[in-house]
Amino acid sequence: MTDMNEKYMSAALREAIKGAGRVSPNPLVGALVVKKGNVIGKGYHRLYGQAHAEVNAIASCFENPAGSDLYVNLEPCSHHGKTPPCTDMIIKHKFKRVFIGTVDPSPHSAGKGIEILKKAGIDVFTGICEEKCRVLNAPFFHYLKHGTPLIILKAAVSLDGSLATDSGDSKWITNEKSRKSAHKLRNLYDAVLVGKNTVLKDDLELTARYRHGRNPVRIVAEKDLSLPLDRKIFNNSAASIIITSENISASVETFYNGKGISLVKVSEKAGYLDLEQAFKIIGTKGIRSIMVEGGGTIHNYLLKNRLAQRLNLFIAPKLIGSGKKFFFGSGFEKISDCIDFDIISSKNFDNDIFIDASIRYPD
Ligand SMILES: NC(=O)c1ccc[n+]([C@@H]2O[C@H](COP(=O)([O-])OP(=O)(O)OC[C@H]3O[C@@H](n4cnc5c(N)ncnc54)[C@H](OP(=O)(O)O)[C@@H]3O)[C@@H](O)[C@H]2O)c1
Repeated sequence: MTDMNEKYMSAALREAIKGAGRVSPNPLVGALVVKKGNVIGKGYHRLYGQAHAEVNAIASCFENPAGSDLYVNLEPCSHHGKTPPCTDMIIKHKFKRVFIGTVDPSPHSAGKGIEILKKAGIDVFTGICEEKCRVLNAPFFHYLKHGTPLIILKAAVSLDGSLATDSGDSKWITNEKSRKSAHKLRNLYDAVLVGKNTVLKDDLELTARYRHGRNPVRIVAEKDLSLPLDRKIFNNSAASIIITSENISASVETFYNGKGISLVKVSEKAGYLDLEQAFKIIGTKGIRSIMVEGGGTIHNYLLKNRLAQRLNLFIAPKLIGSGKKFFFGSGFEKISDCIDFDIISSKNFDNDIFIDASIRYPD
């Protein structure tokens, strides 16, 4: 039974991921309807503000779901939001059992949905593939706990950890398959952030260039607004934000807004813009995840200030020598001070290796 539960929950998770890039700030949710060992319906939350996964799964059933089991990676909602409560729908369709991956910690939920289902005589089981469900919605859970978006460091590095050669050349360290996969990551996360030097050096558009890709919001951090506005990051392919100094005047801000660029103004901390302050503001704009695409200076700032939680690293079997390091700046004195990573998954793109890991800071 446990194996079957995991099998069905994994299928629900495969549904959930189909909503990637389209449902934030909501979580990714998938649902499966199983009757007498047969999957009779499945669905996912497709678009923010639209029907929830449970509703789509029930609507897809090719026979009456009464007496069925429902598998869903997040606790069904029990409140009236943009759509009616899913618990009402589950009770109305006379489900026998509901299998849930993770409890929804949102204040309006937090176990209320489970209680309502139980009171209606439905058997409810929680914690099915809980870790996988938690990883899938890491931005959602992180925001509820900390009030800031999940920060993911993404880079393409050589075996010796370089992002670029001494002259700044970085095209290309990894192979084409890795680079295509990186475009898919841009579809997955709400926003991408780069440091000023990366914009100057690489002039990337930072869009998700593959079929059906959705572009993330593009963010650059620069103190003095000296970047030329003809850089691709400011074109109209997607929204652009500049994190900049609080000293920038209202009239300059109005000028930038007129060019379609929003400013997030923050104070400085030890010579750098206070990105924690910026992340709190950006979180209020509905952004739940930010993938940081370099360079080493900004990675260094985020790691030293414990502001990044996840790593998406593409490693090419290449030696660059000194170059610009992924983690650029002064190192740690002792091994016990170093930053560790817990690998969530890894895969090969031909000769390259991709690592998805969570970041563990020392106590
Ligand atoms: N292989 C890869 O995946 C990859 C990815 C990205 C970049 N790269 C390479 O990396 C190189 C650029 O990296 P980089 O280390 O020189 O620069 P960077 O990290 O791109 O930019 C650093 C600059 O960003 C601004 N900044 C604003 N707030 C900051 C903060 N809180 N922390 C840190 N920086 C902040 C600062 O300029 P102000 O003080 O003027 O604001 C700082 O000097 C390029 O050669 C590029 O090709 C490679």
